[in-house]
Amino acid sequence: MSAEIISGKQIAAEIRAELAKEVAEMKMKGVTPGLCVILVGDDPASKSYVTAKERACEEIGIYSDDNRLPADTSQEELIALIEKMNSDPAIDGILVQLPLPSHINEQEVLMHVSQKDVDGFHPINIGKMVLGQEAVLPCTPNGVVEMLVRKKVKIEGAHVVVVGRSNIVGKPVANMLIQKNGRGNATVTVCHTRTKDLKEQTLQADILIAAAGKPEMIRADMVKAGAVVIDVGVNRVEDATKKSGYRLVGDVAFDEVSQKASMITPVPGGVGPMTITMLLKSTVNLAKKRLG
Ligand SMILES: NC(=O)c1ccc[n+]([C@@H]2O[C@H](COP(=O)([O-])OP(=O)(O)OC[C@H]3O[C@@H](n4cnc5c(N)ncnc54)[C@H](OP(=O)(O)O)[C@@H]3O)[C@@H](O)[C@H]2O)c1
Repeated sequence: MSAEIISGKQIAAEIRAELAKEVAEMKMKGVTPGLCVILVGDDPASKSYVTAKERACEEIGIYSDDNRLPADTSQEELIALIEKMNSDPAIDGILVQLPLPSHINEQEVLMHVSQKDVDGFHPINIGKMVLGQEAVLPCTPNGVVEMLVRKKVKIEGAHVVVVGRSNIVGKPVANMLIQKNGRGNATVTVCHTRTKDLKEQTLQADILIAAAGKPEMIRADMVKAGAVVIDVGVNRVEDATKKSGYRLVGDVAFDEVSQKASMITPVPGGVGPMTITMLLKSTVNLAKKRLG
């Protein structure tokens, strides 16, 4: 069997077109969604993520307020900027690009991003998500669920196995999929480094979500025939044939697993484009509050 490729790029483009239409309508009513992006320091990967987010905002008509601060910015200065943005009526969402430099306490800083928490990382949003209440959902797991829904994968009753239990991917995606709603009702198993027999677990999966950050660790013999495989991992591996000296691979050995799965996401072009798209969607949703 050769799996159907789930193109995150294509699904993301569809959603962005829908959002651009919504933003145009909101603008006619006098509301331009606004996103504040804050980057501290000059980590090259963070810089490129932030640039991609700002470009995506521009493309669909969201106003983005770009704040690039030097690496020696103090925690107090950063919090003062967040508070300024909290009271700026043109800003609906605040995004602090992580990781922050080591002299800054990330958790303390993120506590100041509450009403405008577009990333869904604030304990209030996480609590609401767990309780099944309306919440801003974290972008990557929300993108994973959106892909499954748009590809009409049957989530209800499915056995989902998630490899990884991080706060930004594994835990929230597992939580969303057990919710008693139209995007949930799955039976979810969460695996991590202390799981006794990982293969025994992954072989049970109707839907396998890999989010471990380990290049190509999910091999074909760990996947049930016909499973839907979502690869969240993004890993750099050395490749002398590339100008950059590396290439990106997921957590799934794509070539062999795609012969066994019924559907699979590629890396790049799978979950990645969905993450930024869900950020845009959350910004638009937050801005809708201004319309009443
Ligand atoms: N495409 C996107 O937009 C996007 C967004 C976010 C992250 N990512 C990628 O997704 C991957 C995961 O990110 P993350 O932030 O969730 O990573 P993380 O914080 O490092 O968490 C990795 C999780 O995987 C588990 N794990 C690691 N090796 C394992 C193994 N051999 N067997 C079983 N479990 C294992 C860890 O278990 P323990 O808890 O026991 O240590 C941990 O829970 C990374 O490649 C990252 O780059 C992509």
